Amino acid sequence: MTPFPTRLAALLLFAGALVASCSSQKSTTPPPAAATPPAAPTVKMWGEMKPVVSVKELMQYMIDPASDYIFDSVKTLIRPDGKVVEVMPKTDADWEKLRIGAVTMAEGVYLLKIQRPFAPAGDVNNSVGPDATELSPTEIMAKVEKDPVEWNARIEALRNVGLEVLDIVKRKDTKELWDASENLDVACEECHSHYWYPKEDAQFYRGLDARLKALPPPARGQSISR
Ligand code: HEC
Repeated sequence: MTPFPTRLAALLLFAGALVASCSSQKSTTPPPAAATPPAAPTVKMWGEMKPVVSVKELMQYMIDPASDYIFDSVKTLIRPDGKVVEVMPKTDADWEKLRIGAVTMAEGVYLLKIQRPFAPAGDVNNSVGPDATELSPTEIMAKVEKDPVEWNARIEALRNVGLEVLDIVKRKDTKELWDASENLDVACEECHSHYWYPKEDAQFYRGLDARLKALPPPARGQSISR
């Protein structure tokens, strides 16, 4: 059996290590060599960052167009003659376009970490009236401020897809591009359904379905275009 003083010393050492790891900024002694590399240090800023547009506009004019470089790079098209063609990046120019999308996505999404209004002044989203499906910018802001950690996690999720695509571009791996495009879709959608239109839940779609079924059938001679 280990003599008591040794066990106490070990315990104190352990507690000391805990304190050191919790207050690493104040500690003057260097931390013990870790088996895994330490987390990347916080990025140094050379200056202040100030927002120009609202979240809504950042989406419309930067995140959404950048995502199209990725979404459009891989798809199946049905030609007028019925032939199905698969679109994939082939030339260097195609891969460069994808890289533009990936870099803009991975870097640009961090602009969501700068506090900014969610919509331009006076724009309340589709948040008014019985059929409103969206939260107002004020409601979205309250949600984010209540749990900024979650907001950041969703930003990181999108950034990770940007990094994934960058890696795919490096290896020119067309097979993984389908997965990446799917992951991108999920990263956008999960953030939107949580913050922007959480009212569009299963019950909302059941109601919509019921209302569509209750509509009168189209009058004779009227065609439904699809
Ligand atoms: C971290 C959360 C988050 C992620 C990730 C995110 N969005 Fe958004 N997006 C929002 C919020 C919040 C709004 C609604 C802002 C508002 O209208 O108040 C929005 C709005 C939008 C809009 C509406 C703009 C308009 O003019 O009405 C588009 C388009 C959009 N996002 C596209 C995307 C795409 C594409 C992606 C993925 C590539 C994406 N977003 C990822 C949070 C996010």
